[in-house]
Amino acid sequence: MKTITVFKGDGIGPEITEAVISVLQAAKAPLDYEFFNVGAAEYEQHGALIPDRAFSSFEKTHILLKSPVTTPVGKGFRSLNVTLRNTYNLYANIRPAKSNSAVPTPFPNVDIVTFRENTEDLYVGIEEQIDADTVHATKIITRKASEKIIRDAFRYARERKRHKVTCVHKANILKLSDGLFLSVFKEIAAEFPDIKSDDKIVDNVCMQLVMRPETFDIIVTPNLYGDIISDLTSGLIGGLGLLPSMNIGENYAMFEAVHGSAPDIAGKHIANPTALLWSACMLLEYIGEKTIAGNIRRAVDTVLAAGITLTPDLGGSAKTEEYAQAVIAAL
Ligand code: NAI
Ligand code: MG
Repeated sequence: MKTITVFKGDGIGPEITEAVISVLQAAKAPLDYEFFNVGAAEYEQHGALIPDRAFSSFEKTHILLKSPVTTPVGKGFRSLNVTLRNTYNLYANIRPAKSNSAVPTPFPNVDIVTFRENTEDLYVGIEEQIDADTVHATKIITRKASEKIIRDAFRYARERKRHKVTCVHKANILKLSDGLFLSVFKEIAAEFPDIKSDDKIVDNVCMQLVMRPETFDIIVTPNLYGDIISDLTSGLIGGLGLLPSMNIGENYAMFEAVHGSAPDIAGKHIANPTALLWSACMLLEYIGEKTIAGNIRRAVDTVLAAGITLTPDLGGSAKTEEYAQAVIAAL
């Protein structure tokens, strides 16, 4: 048995967490769970976004399944996600976007995995007010962080028998910073002669992703472009409810859905738990439980393909719990 930390989040977080845990238990995932409330409600009640006990649990288990958390825009506390990524140096944000026949979109052949550098670039949050009408923001790119994310992307390509890694950058304008990222990419690409590699400028990539998404396989890119592009690839496959992700570092790993806390549907028990469930499958694969992850993935595919017990975001009328029960039945 492996103990993992679970943050229930807020908004739809507790509902989808419950559904996911019920599937994990039915699938006999060899996991023990330490549950914590985190987020806006926890902040209002106890003054901390993440209670100390929750941090301690993660520091002990090193594995976190995290539900979405509400973050105030333009004011209030710093994003809990950014805090977690920085505190535990979760340098790689890996977001697979794959078309699913249950979700009709104009792009049926998308299978793109984005490796987004997660700790630097403009997201270091260093902004300086120069005068009343001028603000400077600092972009940081280091060889160390670039090497880690780029090498991870190539290793993943080799392990999963993927064929190509594309570096996305703006080195024509940002000659030093993105230039460094690109030159590190070329060095590391040479270590992986069995994997094809190329590089493209980010604006061109946005156009090509909507014209010819099937020509992309693995993308590796600095933080800001990765944030934007992974949402774009999410849009291609047509549904936030189906997008898992993992954030990994050298010692810690955090698995979460790409979507947020969906306050507009919170409490209605109609949220789609699949993104968090697939994140849990990535967690199982990460700890070596590939068979159980595969069983859950097949059960989800069966339910999606049957098209009967779908949540409203996929055109059905099932409740979150009913969908989870259908997945359990398919197991
Ligand atoms: P959102 O992803 O929460 O919702 C966008 C739209 O997608 C809404 O209409 C929502 O109902 C729908 N949706 C999202 N997840 C769904 C699911 N599982 N099933 C069915 N429909 C779903 O994005 P929004 O509204 O921009 O953000 C809400 C809050 O979440 C904000 O406070 C934001 O900061 C936070 N957020 C947190 C994230 C995290 O904790 N990882 C990530 C993104 C946003
Ligand atoms: Mg984002």
